[in-house]
Amino acid sequence: MSREPQLHPRERSIERSRELFERARRVIPDAAQTNSKRPERFVVGVSPTHAARAEGSHFWDVDGNEYIDYLMACGPVILGYDHPAVMDAVTEQVSDGSMYSLPHPLAVDVAETITEIVPCAEMVRFGKNGNDVTALSAKLARAYTGRDTIATAGYHGWPDVFLSASDAARGIPSGVSEYTERFGYNDLESARRIFEDSDDVAAIITTPASARTPNDGFLEGLRELADEHGALLVFDEVFTGFRFALGGAQERFGVTPDVACFAKAMANGYPISAVAGRRDVMKTIGEPGFTFSMTYAGEVVSLAATKACLDVLQSNEEEIYDRIYAVGDAIREGFNDLAAAHGIDDRASASGIAPRVVTRFTDEAGTPDPDARSLFLQEAHKRGVFVPGSHIPSAAHSDADVEYTLAVYDEVLAILAAAIERDVVADRVDGQG
Ligand SMILES: Cc1ncc(COP(=O)(O)O)c(C=O)c1O
Repeated sequence: MSREPQLHPRERSIERSRELFERARRVIPDAAQTNSKRPERFVVGVSPTHAARAEGSHFWDVDGNEYIDYLMACGPVILGYDHPAVMDAVTEQVSDGSMYSLPHPLAVDVAETITEIVPCAEMVRFGKNGNDVTALSAKLARAYTGRDTIATAGYHGWPDVFLSASDAARGIPSGVSEYTERFGYNDLESARRIFEDSDDVAAIITTPASARTPNDGFLEGLRELADEHGALLVFDEVFTGFRFALGGAQERFGVTPDVACFAKAMANGYPISAVAGRRDVMKTIGEPGFTFSMTYAGEVVSLAATKACLDVLQSNEEEIYDRIYAVGDAIREGFNDLAAAHGIDDRASASGIAPRVVTRFTDEAGTPDPDARSLFLQEAHKRGVFVPGSHIPSAAHSDADVEYTLAVYDEVLAILAAAIERDVVADRVDGQG
């Protein structure tokens, strides 16, 4: 991509994307494998739907259009696509094989490394997805405490235990929800009430942070609540792990859970997850009557990628986290300054901690305005900035990327401001969503 900001929509075709979308919707429910990559999450007919290759912080769609990527494969790619250390480790491992009939020594190496890096980690087990380990954490807490109820806040994937008490509970027996109690993130009182009403709480399972960061005392309060009532505190660090700090959000915010779940940033894009925690709790996994096992856990190419990724993160810790925070801070501040300069800071804003900066578009009444969001995405995507709404910076995002992105946002927010002024925001959205 030219490093010069291109302040005009480029002549660009997304014909191949359109064709693939049509084929995909005939044979793939949702036309994608991951919710956050569904065409409907962007602007149908304008946004690219399929990627062909990626380097650093950029990717190319199937029509050859280049984008600065702020989704980074939904979070896993923390070092940038095609990072040489990870690529070399993977290539070398592939030539030796990816699976054997016995565990490979890398499982021991990587588990040891995680116990050095992550404050709560005394023992570690691997899975393949975030779902595997968040489901495991609930089951583990139940088996360890002999209680059934899970108090939970935040998104933890699609295990029944979490979705049973949500508006996505189709296909889950209604009785399951009896054992799940939801509390509000940053609402310690709502968590406290669950313990007042029940002496059956096995664990508090929460994201320590996500788009929102913890208010003073929130995570500490959950820690105290769990201790007071003999429940476990579980942090779902699938997104925050190795990203908010090398030791995850638990290191960043100084509160150590009993158990934590990891996945996304640990292997720079290879499929692996981990649950890590207190030895006495983790040992439950090996006890009679408790099963956590899967054929592909311990698959060695992903372990090689994890070892390489964690090595790079450990040996360049300051530089990498400084970069991620610098990029995120610059995007958030730059976006808000531009929104103010165009007179729409009451309608468009960016917030959140640097590793996940979220944009929000609202109408006059302050309620979310999907058309304004679509117009913003549409114009950014046309100009080569692939933003899904939030920004997930990697170590590969450069100052030039930020400069280009903010130059694009200047023009895009001007377009949005003019559309708001004339009350034609919905009319300006070319796509269908
Ligand atoms: C905090 C959190 N927990 C769990 C999950 C589920 O992980 P996976 O999609 O790898 O199964 C996600 C995925 O986005 C997540 O962000």
